[in-house]
Amino acid sequence: MRHFLDIHNIDAGDLRGILDQAKAMKDARAGRPRGAEDDARALAGRMVALLFEKPSTRTRVSFDVGTRQLGGRTLILSGSEIHLGHGETIADTARVLSRYVDLVMIRTFEEESLLELARHATVPVINGLTNRTHPCQVMADMMTFEEHRGPIAGKKVVWVGDGNNVCASFLHAAGQFGFEMVVTGPEDLHPEAEFVELARARGASVDLHSDPVKAVTGADLVVADTWVSMHDSPAIKESRRQQLEPYQVNAELMARAKPNALFMHCLPAHRGEEATDEVMDGPHSVIFDEAENRLHVQKALMRWCLDV
Ligand code: CP
Repeated sequence: MRHFLDIHNIDAGDLRGILDQAKAMKDARAGRPRGAEDDARALAGRMVALLFEKPSTRTRVSFDVGTRQLGGRTLILSGSEIHLGHGETIADTARVLSRYVDLVMIRTFEEESLLELARHATVPVINGLTNRTHPCQVMADMMTFEEHRGPIAGKKVVWVGDGNNVCASFLHAAGQFGFEMVVTGPEDLHPEAEFVELARARGASVDLHSDPVKAVTGADLVVADTWVSMHDSPAIKESRRQQLEPYQVNAELMARAKPNALFMHCLPAHRGEEATDEVMDGPHSVIFDEAENRLHVQKALMRWCLDV
């Protein structure tokens, strides 16, 4: 049984195979209606549970549509609707769900909730985001970069802003896909040392800079994300905005990157804060390709988990 919990603990050859299959499935259904099933109904007869303790547009819709395109069915549940960590242990929920469904995707707050679910489930579990990592997003971003620019190995990827959960998964990916990673932001918002050290231990070059101009110079890919989380207090939101203002990705900063550099943002965005409309909608931006590729890469992830 294969869980997809984080990028760093999956075999690099398997990660490459997942990206190849995602691209093949995307190409095979080009021009077909979104609701049409794929020829290979790889999840026929399978039931997939999608658990959400946090809001979601892309993860929720892409997993649901992707499962249906593969001929499977979904059950979408919010944390408040079931006894997930309240009313019964996560371990018991994992054991029970495993009697009803073939695969579980969970978006949760604490990484430990994901890990406990995976430890006790007897069906595969996919990490749909925790406070620490967001591996499905970064797999879609790897696919998106390579569709536009070819292999990401050896390229310079610059993360601008808060060293958050998506940044952590980029660091995991740096070690697996072999790209250079630069993170620029205030020192107290740099990613956890564990993620940086792991990437370096896998041979990736990782630099942490407080100067965004120096960091972005010569970048092949510039990535931004929201500065605040929906659960932050108004006081934290305001102080974060002030602290991160120098790290806004605008046309001037983007001009420091290579002329053919790409810009990514996993969305949802606070337009005019972490990135301007000019960049979000400009010629470097591939933000909606990233969103689309969530669908294709997660279909391949589910097939990998179930070996179908
Ligand atoms: N990027 C991402 O995970 O989007 P959602 O929060 O809408 O799922």
